[in-house]
Amino acid sequence: SWWTANAAVVEHTFHVGNLSVRRLCNSRVITAVNGQLPGPTIEANEGDQIVVHVINESPFNLSIHWHGMFQKLTPWADGPVYVTQCPILPGHHYTYRFNTTGQEGTLWWHAHVSWLRATVYGALIIRPKADVHSYPFPTPHKEIPILLGEWYNSNEVNIENTALATGAAPNLSNAYTINGRPGDLYPCSHKHIYKVKVVQGKTYMLRIINAALNNQLFFKIAKHNLTVVAVDACYTTPYNTDVVVLAPGQTVDALLQTNAPPGDYYMAALPYASASGLPFDNSTATGILRYRSTWMGSYPTPLMPLMPAFNDTPTAHGFYSNLTSLLLPGSIRVPLHVDEKMHVVYGLNLIPCGSNRTCQGPFGSEFAASMNNVSFQLPSTISLLEAHYRGVKGIYTSDFPDKPPAFDYTNSSLSFSQSMLSTTKGTRLKKLKYNAVVEVVLQNTALVALENHPLHLHGFNFFVLAQGFGNYNAAVAKKKFNLVNPQMRNTIAVPVGGWAVIRFIADNPGVWIMHCHLDAHLPWGLATAFEVENGHTASSTIPPPPSDFPKC
Ligand code: C2O
Repeated sequence: SWWTANAAVVEHTFHVGNLSVRRLCNSRVITAVNGQLPGPTIEANEGDQIVVHVINESPFNLSIHWHGMFQKLTPWADGPVYVTQCPILPGHHYTYRFNTTGQEGTLWWHAHVSWLRATVYGALIIRPKADVHSYPFPTPHKEIPILLGEWYNSNEVNIENTALATGAAPNLSNAYTINGRPGDLYPCSHKHIYKVKVVQGKTYMLRIINAALNNQLFFKIAKHNLTVVAVDACYTTPYNTDVVVLAPGQTVDALLQTNAPPGDYYMAALPYASASGLPFDNSTATGILRYRSTWMGSYPTPLMPLMPAFNDTPTAHGFYSNLTSLLLPGSIRVPLHVDEKMHVVYGLNLIPCGSNRTCQGPFGSEFAASMNNVSFQLPSTISLLEAHYRGVKGIYTSDFPDKPPAFDYTNSSLSFSQSMLSTTKGTRLKKLKYNAVVEVVLQNTALVALENHPLHLHGFNFFVLAQGFGNYNAAVAKKKFNLVNPQMRNTIAVPVGGWAVIRFIADNPGVWIMHCHLDAHLPWGLATAFEVENGHTASSTIPPPPSDFPKC
């Protein structure tokens, strides 16, 4: 019968439309899925088929990305607008179909157009296939999804459009949130703080997702340690810590032992903002972990965890760099032979304001961003994937530079030197042979500010071989390479003003964007895309787009 079949179909319908919600003493109409914030959780087992009917009842153009899903042979379902599809127009719908083969852990889904993902997001949880194997750690008593986000008092799409029109940095959010709620350190939020009840003496699994638009976040629970067992849906060697750090896009699965005395304990999320000189929202979101107890007295005031400072780079880097992957029978090992080597420097730029307008960026200029001095532009009449599939010329070129133009990119300077800070707009892709092993050195520039930009690669997980601060140096980096059990991820927070070396196997034909997951930086051009050719068999060839594929 159907329940013993190997793969099930997990089917959802997402009605995306207006929802009126109250936060921070104000009511606002947001765009939300099925009237929920965060949106519905998708739960599947490894190997299942996921089918999501997305019905756009909102006034905005829409698309949904399944962050971290490989989308092997379903590149049409990846979601980034004008990369793999045209937007789903208001009043239209599109059905995303993809499988979960070979993937386990916590991922998530979010809108991938303008700033809609501020409110259009939810968890995507893939558990081991029950009849094959279980978790590589004791099965937790219960699982607790923790989605960290950002709340804006005004419409996010307008905020982004205003920023792009004026060349200025966009407005900051007004609060961080835990499962959509700011928590009791913010005005009018006390009653609606997120609370989760636990029993003493059990192991819970937190599935933590950083869905914030523009900030890395520290997350902690008072008087409790966490054991990290997976990041970005890749199992890790169990790692004990009192604090986790997540860049936007990243996930952490952590075990929590409820071994404290009965009571209330705060969980808290606060930004890790490594930027120098850039404004940010340094407020703290809270939630409550409540021990259920037979004790009938009142709960004492919850204890607040001692949070790291907003600029505590040693703590953040310690967490990020100490993780290693858990080697299991059948784990993919690091390929030792490399076919394609790239060196990508990337960061913010300031470009002269176009004529006919005044810009409000620093020095009267406009913000932009680039990779190897190419500021990535999306097409508007066809998606890159469709242009690739149909061989449509003139949409993009396959000449993304493998190496940066030469100069010291980490020499931070805020003086507006046009030659250094300017960039060139373009839609230049990097072409890869099917199954090529690709090594990419990622180097943060520090031209406008000393920042770290979390980079997300669609379509693949990558090995993180090494990371460090300052200018990349091949000899130094090589000595640091972990070729045995490096962590695997789909999003990496490259150290502030520093570098990382990643490696992946281009075993997924299609067009895959790699971009900064700070949402302010994507429209400025902090992206490029890989064009992965078909292999020689049907199982390595892109099938045609589905019949309801959105048209531009
Ligand atoms: Cu989570 Cu391209 O995004």
